[in-house]
Amino acid sequence: MKISVIGLGYLGATHAVAMAKLGHEVIGIDKDVSKVESLLAGKIPFFEPGLAEALAEVLAQGKVQFQTSHSESSASADLHFLCVGTPQAADGSANTSYLDAAIDDLAPHLSPSAVVVGKSTVPVGTARKLRDRLQEKTGFEPKLVWNPEFLREGTALEDSLKPDRIVVGSFKKEDSFPLLVAYEKLLQAGSPLVELDVPTAELVKVAANAFLATKISFINAMAEIAEVAGADVVALSKAIGYDERIGNKFLRSGIGFGGGCLPKDIRGFISRAEELGVGQALSFLKEIDGINNRRRQRVIELAKQELGELSGQKITVLGVSFKPNSDDLRESPSLEIARSLAQAGAVVTVTDPKALPGLSDSQLSKVSDVDQALRGSELVILGTEWDEYRRLDPLKSKSLVKSATIIDGRNVLDVAAWQSAGWKVIALGRTISND
Ligand SMILES: NC(=O)c1ccc[n+]([C@@H]2O[C@H](COP(=O)([O-])OP(=O)(O)OC[C@H]3O[C@@H](n4cnc5c(N)ncnc54)[C@H](O)[C@@H]3O)[C@@H](O)[C@H]2O)c1
Repeated sequence: MKISVIGLGYLGATHAVAMAKLGHEVIGIDKDVSKVESLLAGKIPFFEPGLAEALAEVLAQGKVQFQTSHSESSASADLHFLCVGTPQAADGSANTSYLDAAIDDLAPHLSPSAVVVGKSTVPVGTARKLRDRLQEKTGFEPKLVWNPEFLREGTALEDSLKPDRIVVGSFKKEDSFPLLVAYEKLLQAGSPLVELDVPTAELVKVAANAFLATKISFINAMAEIAEVAGADVVALSKAIGYDERIGNKFLRSGIGFGGGCLPKDIRGFISRAEELGVGQALSFLKEIDGINNRRRQRVIELAKQELGELSGQKITVLGVSFKPNSDDLRESPSLEIARSLAQAGAVVTVTDPKALPGLSDSQLSKVSDVDQALRGSELVILGTEWDEYRRLDPLKSKSLVKSATIIDGRNVLDVAAWQSAGWKVIALGRTISND
């Protein structure tokens, strides 16, 4: 099938490559000239494991092309996927203006038989507004369905090619048929199909993210209790996770969630519920956000307890991306901690296997070599649990630092091994004896 993918960020670039890998003829469109040039040159403008190799493959097969605006070719697509951003507006709501602009750009090129497929994460009710806007601009009744995306950065391509579910919301069931044809291989491979009305499909995505955020903040709230009660949140998490109704995934305490989705999506959800007059239903999500932000603050407190005055103290932060296997810095908890420490006067060095090129922050010293980053440090903070940092040799690392104290912001280090190498280990939600 012929497919256009509008918006080529983390979601759209991955989706374009995945659709081409499924054998479709894909035209990716983004207003950002540098992104399009980069993709045409076979370079993914961000880090995502396996995506560059897959892009090279589909470019060589002539299955994908990239451009900055619609053309005769994209106008003849059977499906147009909307993958533009829906960032947080100043008041916390989701900014859907990029979707409006994408619809306005598409309208003059849309054929009545083509299906517009929304994939961006949106406040419930957005799809209907977009459909009305499209109808007004085209003068015909457009086919629009909603197909929220559940890919996770770090495993995005795999998630796109083996989705754990395919959710499709439609105003008229038959409008979704071409999409199901496009996804035939995925459905045949066993991905479950969930067919819904449009508002439910829109809600599935934000509800899923609200639940995941809640699970993380729940265990981080337990960490707050464990810290004052002399308990151990890691052991607690393991013990409650054995209960299948609870499960152990997304139940690891640490410095909390970040990224381009969870924080903005829960705030957008709160805002939409308030608009709909049911704000109370989601007031708990404000606390979820609050718990998440308090964990970052807790690391600053621990650093102060350890170093006293922060001014002039040399601190190394291991990892600045919001999670491992990604270079995404959006709402990164680790980066926010590094910035707060620098603002308090500390001399902060940050290191990261992939995210440093995207970081322009004059307050932070960027060092790509981890040994170099550790040299002379008076406090080390593990902020993002890249494998490189989990596997660090504590003995060698001790020989590099000035003072062997580490705050394990992700509860991933082997505390006994680090202690026996002479380190003082501080962790969130755990009472660790360093005597
Ligand atoms: N990143 C993820 O892991 C992920 C996962 C699931 C869902 N989502 C959702 O997908 C959407 C996109 O997220 P993202 O992380 O890819 O954002 P992003 O900021 O990385 O990418 C958005 C892209 O859209 C482009 N764009 C904006 N307006 C345009 C227009 N009118 N025409 C063409 N291109 C335009 C931008 O230039 C940018 O490249 C959001 O709603 C997000 O919540 C993201």
